[in-house]
Order: sequence, then structure tokens, then C-alpha cells
Amino acid sequence: MDSFYELLKRRRAVRSYTGERVPRETLERIARAARRGPNAGYSQGLRLLVVDDPQTIEQLAAMQEDEGSQAWFGKAAAHILVLTREQDYHDRYNQPDKLAVTGGVEVVWPVPFWHVDAGAALMLVWLAALEEGLGAGVYGVPVEEDARWRELLAIPGDLTIVVGVTIGHPAADPDWDRATSAFSQRRRAQDEVVRWNRWSS
Ligand SMILES: Cc1cc2nc3c(=O)[nH]c(=O)nc-3n(C[C@H](O)[C@H](O)[C@H](O)COP(=O)(O)O)c2cc1C
Repeated sequence: MDSFYELLKRRRAVRSYTGERVPRETLERIARAARRGPNAGYSQGLRLLVVDDPQTIEQLAAMQEDEGSQAWFGKAAAHILVLTREQDYHDRYNQPDKLAVTGGVEVVWPVPFWHVDAGAALMLVWLAALEEGLGAGVYGVPVEEDARWRELLAIPGDLTIVVGVTIGHPAADPDWDRATSAFSQRRRAQDEVVRWNRWSS
């Protein structure tokens, strides 16, 4: 079995799938992995919507404008929508044990922790997919598309769509995949992104 570091070397955004189905049990294990993520104050605002119904996947694909995205979305065995319920965080941080350390008022959020937790969950989904011998890719839902997605997937207003993760058996990359960011952007050097002890000298 691959070590964690070996697994990580294989992680890349997969946007091309064979169309082969993935059993429910596998998707359930992947979804369960996401629940193992850290979350601020144990607020547990994470929600996952696993879309494995072929007809719904086809509808998601049909909503895409370019052929590359249509094939990417349509051939995936599943989409896992990573959702967050921000209100769970406000509720949790207004409980007495939290208020006791923040002077009786809700904490001033350094960054939106509900997005941080969703990011951690998306990574767990991705790594679990790799562990299952599958590939994964991630996409954002454009703001102007949000209402259509909500309607199609019956997502209520108190849940925010953070990202979608496609999962499936990887296929050879079509040419359009090479035009995406990872091919056009250089990887930043280690010493540009990792520094020790003090950021500036
Ligand atoms: C929050 C987020 C949103 C992303 N949205 C898209 C997207 O809409 N379309 C897309 O093709 N890739 C998207 N990606 C994938 C990135 O382009 C990809 O992870 C990045 O280029 C690095 O490539 P790699 O994952 O293969 O290492 C997204 C990734 C993240 C983390």
C-alpha cells in the first residue's frame, strides 16, 4: 500500500474519466473520510451532497458551456458537493463556553472558519478517492450559476456551496486538460512558500 507521501505524489486534478461506475459503498467510505476533518469549535457545519444518480450528473454536465467541462462533469462517477452551514458556527460560538473566552460576544472571525473546514474536507474527499484507486478533481460553482444548481439539487438557502469534487476512474487526459492552470503556471519554489522562524529577514 502506498505511504501517505506516495499517495500525495499521485494527487492531481483529474478532469477526465472513463465513465465507469463506482459502487455506493466506495462513495460512502469517501464521504465518511470527510467527516474526520478538523472543524472550528467542533461546530460541524460541514454538509456533503453526494450526487451519483446518472441522470442528475448528466444534467450537471449539460449546464456546462464548453465541451471539455461537459465531458469532465458527465463522465465522473459522482460529484460530491462540499457545502457549509455558516450558522452552525455562529450558534456554536455563542454558546456559554465560547462566550466565556471571548468576553460575552461572538468571536471576531480571523477568516471564515466555515470555509477553512470545507477546504479540509475537500482534501479528505480527494485523498480518500486516491486511496480507493480513483481520481478526483475540484471545481467552483460560478456565482451566476448558484441558483440553478440549488434548484436542481434542492439545496436550501442556509447551505453555501463551497466546491464540487468529481470522482471517478481516471482516463487519459484530453488536450484541453493541458490548457488548465497547473500546466500554464509554474510551481512556486519551496523557499518562496515555506520560510523558517521569521517571514522577513
Ligand atoms: C477551491 C478550488 C477551486 C477550483 N476550481 C476549479 C475549476 O473551477 N475548474 C478547474 O478546472 N479546476 C479547478 N480547480 C483545480 C485547480 O485548478 C488545480 O487544483 C490546480 O491547478 C493545481 O493542479 P493539481 O490539483 O493538478 O495539482 C480548483 C481548485 C480549488 C482548490
